[in-house]
Amino acid sequence: MNHNGSKEKFSSTLAVFFATLGSALGLGNIWKFPYVTGENGGAAFIIVYLLFILLMGIPVMLGEFFIGRHTNCNAIGAFNKLKNGRHFKFIGWLGFITAFFILFFYSAVGGWVLSYFFKALKGDFASLGSLPVEEATTLASSIFNETMGHSFYPMMWQFIMIAIVAIILMAGIKKGIEKVTKTLMPVLLVLILICVIRALSLPKAMEGINFLLYPDFSKLTTDSIVNAMGLAFFKLSLALGVMITYSSYFSKDTNLVGTSFKVAFSDVLISMLAGLAIFPVVFQFGLAPSEGPGLLFQSIPLAFASLPFGNVLLSVFFLLTGIAATTAMISLLEVPVSILSQEFHLNRKSSVIICSAIVITVGVITVHPESIFGGTTIFGLSFFDFFDYVTAKLIMPFCGILISIFIGYFVPRKDFINEITNEGTLLKNNTLSPIICFSLKFIAPILISLILITSLGLI
Ligand code: TRP
Repeated sequence: MNHNGSKEKFSSTLAVFFATLGSALGLGNIWKFPYVTGENGGAAFIIVYLLFILLMGIPVMLGEFFIGRHTNCNAIGAFNKLKNGRHFKFIGWLGFITAFFILFFYSAVGGWVLSYFFKALKGDFASLGSLPVEEATTLASSIFNETMGHSFYPMMWQFIMIAIVAIILMAGIKKGIEKVTKTLMPVLLVLILICVIRALSLPKAMEGINFLLYPDFSKLTTDSIVNAMGLAFFKLSLALGVMITYSSYFSKDTNLVGTSFKVAFSDVLISMLAGLAIFPVVFQFGLAPSEGPGLLFQSIPLAFASLPFGNVLLSVFFLLTGIAATTAMISLLEVPVSILSQEFHLNRKSSVIICSAIVITVGVITVHPESIFGGTTIFGLSFFDFFDYVTAKLIMPFCGILISIFIGYFVPRKDFINEITNEGTLLKNNTLSPIICFSLKFIAPILISLILITSLGLI
């Protein structure tokens, strides 16, 4: 084994599935996908999204799987080992930096989720259920403002969130990432099902279901298409080296194509379940659907608190959101950690400490009340929105184009197909590989470029 390759591997197919799914599942499933789907034509949008997953998401994921497993290396080292890879090494560096960018704001939200989980446990939202709607709304937003505006607690929760992730990563691949995701993914599914069952038993459940699923093709706009692509990248944790890093821990008999399909479709399923857990309750209490922090930290407490045992349900909900955020953050931090330990020969513990220290020191600026409420901006955006925008709208599509071009034009086709078919033992006489190669060569780069240009307002 090469000295700077990864030595530890996931121990089974199931472990591979849960770890990869753990990365895909995250805040995106809860505060983004359901709302964006509802606003952009329900089932009509889901069809477009699935097309993106098939034509672009799965091929790019397989491209990353190829890079990681073939070389057994982190996102930067991998390019050194591949033919023609040196010219593309900066993709790894971009991934290194961008993983931090996402962690800066993701850890802020993770911290808020943690603090809301404890608030729910303590019963802080109980009175929301008994007040008239207007007063309850005012109270919900004042709890929100107080929580985010406090000069100490948001930073403390963010710190705790990062510390949890760091401790898991220090335990290593098998004892850390594998053990935690294998335990938490099934728990998350059970928790979400509890919320779905409760939500669907409400009298106005149909309104929520309609919002989420009613196919309305007239709502599909250019914007919806840009949204579907951005969501596909963010949801599947693509283009930042996460999948390169994780697949370097896959063994040679892992079924790459099977894993990519299973993860992509389970992820969509969980997003829809999240929508079914949220919107029936939101509509039941006459609230407007929304996305982002407003949905998670205002509408949801307001709506759920009005149900009998609302506090218990809210605790369940924030716990599952916290789990999703944690396993996603684990995968993000693992990108720089694996780079430092393999490329710079630091031990795993020091790499984790250095990387989490960076997230903690810079991450504070996204969560600090001054940047949330105080009007401190960068290019007219709050730090939080800036990191979100730059990563999802610019860097990810850009790296997505580069990865597909690299695999489509610079990697010998035989090598790629051998890797994704496990040296021809899987997908015998398959028609899938040519389609995946075609997509990486033509469809993905052209589609992503067009959308990148459109979203930048260049055409
Ligand atoms: N997929 C996660 C979500 O939906 C976020 C995430 C984790 C991510 N790792 C990533 C996004 C890598 C982009 C790249 O919330």
